Amino acid sequence: MDRFEIEGGVPLAGTVNVSGAKNAALPILAASLLADGPCRLEGVPDLRDIRTMLRILEELGVESTREEDGAITTRVVDPTRVRAPYELVKTMRASICVLGPLVGRRGRAEVSFPGGCVIGPRPVDLHLLGLEALGVEITVDAGYITAEGDGLRGGGELYLGGPYGPTVTGTANVLSAAVLAPGTTIIQSAACEPEVVDLARFLVAMGARIEGIGGPTLVVHGVERLHGTRWRVIPDRIEAGTLACAAAMTGGDVTLLGADPAAMTAPLTLLSRMGVSVERGAEGALRIRGGLRTRPADVVTLPYPGFPTDLQAQFMALLCVANGNSFVTEKIYPERFIHVAELQRMGAHLRKEGPTVIVQGVERLSGCHVMASDLRASAALVVAGLAASGRTTVERVYHIDRGYERIEEKLMRLGARIERHTGVAVEADAALPS
Ligand code: EPZ
Repeated sequence: MDRFEIEGGVPLAGTVNVSGAKNAALPILAASLLADGPCRLEGVPDLRDIRTMLRILEELGVESTREEDGAITTRVVDPTRVRAPYELVKTMRASICVLGPLVGRRGRAEVSFPGGCVIGPRPVDLHLLGLEALGVEITVDAGYITAEGDGLRGGGELYLGGPYGPTVTGTANVLSAAVLAPGTTIIQSAACEPEVVDLARFLVAMGARIEGIGGPTLVVHGVERLHGTRWRVIPDRIEAGTLACAAAMTGGDVTLLGADPAAMTAPLTLLSRMGVSVERGAEGALRIRGGLRTRPADVVTLPYPGFPTDLQAQFMALLCVANGNSFVTEKIYPERFIHVAELQRMGAHLRKEGPTVIVQGVERLSGCHVMASDLRASAALVVAGLAASGRTTVERVYHIDRGYERIEEKLMRLGARIERHTGVAVEADAALPS
């Protein structure tokens, strides 16, 4: 298993490119199952989760090639295959994104039920209810979800809201099935995340007819077929936010190139309120300058355009050294606090009260051995290690490799003293999904 060794305390400085968004690329790759011709996808990051999705697509008769310029071309070669096996699904929950496109295009899907997850319970009931409202028959047997829907019916109104707000991949699944359902389908309480918007625009580029993109009500007029297309995936707002936290926490001066600040209003506003300098430049450039200890803050995660749960851990790391007491409340995954105990090992003063963590800012964290446990918690530990005094060893960085493209190379270019030490290879299926 690889680990990072970080010598903290170096202010990050320089420019860094933001990669394409993993959480946009995954449902878009899955939706390429719908296309009658090849799709050329640009800006797809080279990540473990993306490679998993490509393996699932291969199982489903979709050939993919990474071109020299980095673009991925997908091409359906065997439309008869409908089974996404447990061995792959168990390593990545986002595998569920193939359910909607499969049943929408091929009339049948057999997808292994995604299991538990370190960030808390993650049911898929809303995905299934949404598909049922489109006339899909769902059965769960022997650990597999079987969806049958030859002749989907649109023409209805369906509601996708759940106890914690709309569902992101649930919206992706239902939308990807509805685009080929005859009639007009109205999806209420659709997720508004930029990644869902990107998927919807990709579907439109393939010939789908969707109104209301970006809002909570999507009106989908079913079409008979979708063609291949060319698409550029949006920049990763979570990677950009993570790098911004690292810049702020180390008192650095970092310019992020190719970000999408419009999709980052909540985290950027919060940084400004904390006293971090945030400057927007041309073409998505974002200059982040940290300085003295930041002001404390009240962070509440919410569906978009609220503050993203995927940046909660990284902001908590930053608030650990703020000048005062902060509150971090998790409203999407009330149990997503696995980083708390590791940050405490680094000297953070944290107290968890239900879905809220009270953060009492300390002057400095100190480096030690910490264990990465899920993607964003791992990112928070790296951010903390970059700012801490002394050496931080982050074990099990395969979690971070799932969602950050060559993170240590990007950080090294900004002056960070971070090294990857390669250990015994870990099988993908040893990783807990998230
Ligand atoms: C997506 O997960 C992201 N994954 C997650 O990113 C992200 O944390 C999450 O959205 C919230 O923004 C991808 O896009 C691949 P949800 P998703 O369905 O779609 C409950 C990362 O670090 N719910 O929007 O699985 C659910 O338990 C990852 O990159 C139901 O109750 O999340 C949660 O409390 C981790 N029933 C809330 O809704 C359902 O059927 C939102 O979940 C589905 C969800």
